[in-house]
Amino acid sequence: MNWNRRKFVKTTSVLAGASSCGLISLVGCTPVKYLSGEVKNNALVIDKSQWGDAEFVLVKNKKLPKPIFIKPTNDGYTALLLECTHKKCGVRPNSRSLKCPCHGSEFDHVGNVLKGPAERNLRSFKIWDDDNSIYIQ
Ligand code: FES
Repeated sequence: MNWNRRKFVKTTSVLAGASSCGLISLVGCTPVKYLSGEVKNNALVIDKSQWGDAEFVLVKNKKLPKPIFIKPTNDGYTALLLECTHKKCGVRPNSRSLKCPCHGSEFDHVGNVLKGPAERNLRSFKIWDDDNSIYIQ
């Protein structure tokens, strides 16, 4: 392989990797939408109009150590702190599960442990909604 061919192969491999994952905000090649929440009456409030067509969203607030994962369920929503219960690393969402990059723990989308070393489920929050907003407490 001459230098030009090697450079071509290396460049196209990088571009192929980027295109399969997209070039937007990513967590493990899954596009992730971040929303901001506002604290009102002891609840974190999210404007539903920000949601769009996302499968799930992450909400950041300066009072939280890690973002909150929010996903619709059959009877409402699930809200989980993305902090691993093993040693507090940040857990990363994808369309099937929530994975910890530190030691390999994995959780389902309602926070149950699928794979250790974590032994406890993710911390969950009370969550409810009305026509315009989602409330997390
Ligand atoms: S901190 Fe998540 S598996 Fe260890």
